[in-house]
Amino acid sequence: MNLLVVGGGGREHTIIRYLKKNPTVETIFACPGNGGMADEAVCTGIGATDIEKIVAFAVENKIDYAVVAPDDPLVLGCVDALNEKGIPCFGPNANAAIIEGSKVFSKNLMKKYGIPTAEYEVFENMEDALRYLETAPIPTVVKADGLALGKGVIIAQTRQEAKQAVIDMMEGGIFGKSGSRVVIEEFLTGPEVSVLAFTDGKVVKPMVSSMDHKRIGDNDTGLNTGGMGTIAPNPYYTTAIAEECMNTIFLPTINAMNAEGRTFQGCLYFGLMLTPKGPKVIEYNCRFGDPETQVVLPLLESDLLTIMQATTNGTLAETEVKFANAHACCVILASAGYPQSYKKGFEITMTAEAKAHTFVAGGKLQDGKLVTSGGRVTGTTAIAASLEEAIREAYRISDGVRFEGAYRRSDIGQRALQALK
Ligand code: AMP
Ligand code: GLY
Repeated sequence: MNLLVVGGGGREHTIIRYLKKNPTVETIFACPGNGGMADEAVCTGIGATDIEKIVAFAVENKIDYAVVAPDDPLVLGCVDALNEKGIPCFGPNANAAIIEGSKVFSKNLMKKYGIPTAEYEVFENMEDALRYLETAPIPTVVKADGLALGKGVIIAQTRQEAKQAVIDMMEGGIFGKSGSRVVIEEFLTGPEVSVLAFTDGKVVKPMVSSMDHKRIGDNDTGLNTGGMGTIAPNPYYTTAIAEECMNTIFLPTINAMNAEGRTFQGCLYFGLMLTPKGPKVIEYNCRFGDPETQVVLPLLESDLLTIMQATTNGTLAETEVKFANAHACCVILASAGYPQSYKKGFEITMTAEAKAHTFVAGGKLQDGKLVTSGGRVTGTTAIAASLEEAIREAYRISDGVRFEGAYRRSDIGQRALQALK
């Protein structure tokens, strides 16, 4: 089979590496891909949102199955466009991807179907939002309705900060059209858990749970990033909580999407907060998480391509989705200065051991050498029988990845380790 993977980050590198384990796979093409995966996939350089070119390429190269990994092409209807040409895909159509594409949609869905989430109000008019904030409980959370490169959420500690966020989004247009409507919601507390789940629209098969580390600095300090490391499984997510989430969140969400005529097929990502009042949904994503994928797929014992195809064909109920009884830790190396401005173009070197454990997010080939081309550059994953050992190994192996100014957090997994003790 010839496969096409849309996307070009660490998540896509991970997906490609695990798709290749299926012996029927011949060539994997990536749109755009990146230099760090060039010996595992044919990188086309076609942009992930250039849907016309992606479709033309897929037709020309007789692609048998496509995996659309990032949020924007999914929301823009990449799956619909490929399906129209008879190419089956992993991922939801645009009609279902709206669960991530519009926070107003997802909040209203949860309210209508009684799925636990933070209390909220929707505003289409800035004056109304500002008036509401005069008396709203503080801290509060201001969210742009649409996709905003993961930056559309402001946790406001003061009334003034909340108002400024509303003004920036609704008047300043810092997120463009995405901020023309805002959600203002209740501030929740508790440990966060990421649960990625395969679904064919009929059954849900959750993957092993995970924990992201979003801040740039140790002990969760400093600016938000795309994620500086992950561990799996998440120790806060007990069997009892998993069962509760299946009954109060996962199945109700799949059923709600069906009832709305928006059947979801692919990977549905539940961003959960385990509040004192039970698990609540913080956000839905219509795709695999990054860097959650880098710890979840290495623990998958079943065949990834077979499962993906089952979500497309509606045969997930009879398809095995099995995870190893082990622990994984992924440590991200970022460019100095990230998530603010940083320099690119530094050569990346890896020991053979590091290369085998590393997924490249921000690398490109230049004169035959791999050089840095992004903020988050690599993610190195280790698996072990205990979390403690997985962390130790991930740090040891990531020592073998070198480039000028490489920065990593030193405490990935420490909070989870404390929770286990
Ligand atoms: P998102 O961009 O939707 O992933 O949100 C970014 C982060 O904001 C989440 O991972 C949470 O840590 C935090 N967050 C979002 N909504 C809330 C909320 N209602 N209460 C507390 N924290 C929140
Ligand atoms: N790691 C969070 C996300 O993929 O949205």
